Amino acid sequence: MIYANTESPIKKGSFAMSDMRAIGFTQNLPIENEKSFFEFFTPKPTPTGHDLLVKVQATSVNPVDTGVRRGTKGVLTTPKVIGWDAYGIVDAVGDAVSLFQPGDRVFYAGSFKRAGTDSEYHLVDERIVGHAPTTLNPAEIAAMPLTSLTAWEALFEQMSIAFDHPQDNAGKTVLIINGAGGVGSTATQLAHLAGLTVIATASRPETIAWTKAHGADAVVNHRKNLVEEVHALGYNTVDYILELSNLNQHWAEIVTLIAPSGHIVSITGNDQPIDLRALKQKRATFAWEWMYTKSYFETADMISQHETLERIRQLLDNGQLKSTLAKTLTPINAANLRVAHALVETKRMIGKVVLAN
Ligand SMILES: NC(=O)c1ccc[n+]([C@@H]2O[C@H](COP(=O)([O-])OP(=O)(O)OC[C@H]3O[C@@H](n4cnc5c(N)ncnc54)[C@H](OP(=O)(O)O)[C@@H]3O)[C@@H](O)[C@H]2O)c1
Repeated sequence: MIYANTESPIKKGSFAMSDMRAIGFTQNLPIENEKSFFEFFTPKPTPTGHDLLVKVQATSVNPVDTGVRRGTKGVLTTPKVIGWDAYGIVDAVGDAVSLFQPGDRVFYAGSFKRAGTDSEYHLVDERIVGHAPTTLNPAEIAAMPLTSLTAWEALFEQMSIAFDHPQDNAGKTVLIINGAGGVGSTATQLAHLAGLTVIATASRPETIAWTKAHGADAVVNHRKNLVEEVHALGYNTVDYILELSNLNQHWAEIVTLIAPSGHIVSITGNDQPIDLRALKQKRATFAWEWMYTKSYFETADMISQHETLERIRQLLDNGQLKSTLAKTLTPINAANLRVAHALVETKRMIGKVVLAN
């Protein structure tokens, strides 16, 4: 591997024509430190099998990026490249690829096991890639893949809500905890399209306004008592609860608010044990959603992420779904990546922040 950037803490050297630029880190430094991310050169990979080599045009930053960076222990011997959201152009394809060809415009989130999208070129398995929308700009597109896949799988796979039969969902309610974040901004729109009554949470005037503009029928404040807030709307319980912020903090409220035989999905996690027995009397269902599961375990239904992104593309192109892009930083470089990480670390993001060339 060859490094050629003054910001790099790694040895300097020359670079070859076959190299590409990438942005990475070798240790967890405060994001204000200008060495927390640096640019370097590394060999451009060659696609084999089901892989596409994509020239990345735009990439977004999610809380998983800040989590992986901040969770890094010690000093890595080679830079780690993260980033899990891309819009780009297919540059070359592996010999088993059947869904795409060079020149195709694509969008995808990628795999947790592989190098990320913070690089000039990126390898991704075609089965987790969709053709990009044609009516949106690169930044608007790159805002969508990871959050759309997460929201779609949570609502329509883990909760088994029927997206294509909104009449069956009339009168059903979903509580979305964290309505204005990246996932919530897409989940509220998708739940609304599926015919559910959507109660979303937000605590500031700007996040309340954003949440209403993205399909919420009512907004309650997650910094107040959610049980009292939902009861004040006239709902004793709700049929579905999608937890997108902090499971431990909201668990007692979730247990009280879920309807008998209701469905709960969390995408976050718990640092303290949660008591599933609390759901027994109501025989409520609890499930996790992890957007990376299918590619991580290379499950037989991995290609469903290609199919979901194709549906998301249609919804974006026909105007039923709108991009959740809130801020664009140009171009893709280490300085802008530090700005985007700093924004996501505030935990006050509204929609998505994207880096685009
Ligand atoms: N499992 C998966 O596959 C998966 C996928 C994507 C994300 N995630 C995880 O899901 C979480 C959300 O990600 P995201 O990108 O949607 O988040 P985000 O954009 O960072 O969320 C920011 C929002 O969180 C809200 N918030 C802050 N404190 C809250 C609280 N105590 N209760 C409810 N909402 C609160 C804020 O609203 P106010 O400013 O109005 O308070 C803010 O608008 C992260 O932990 C992320 O790592 C998991």
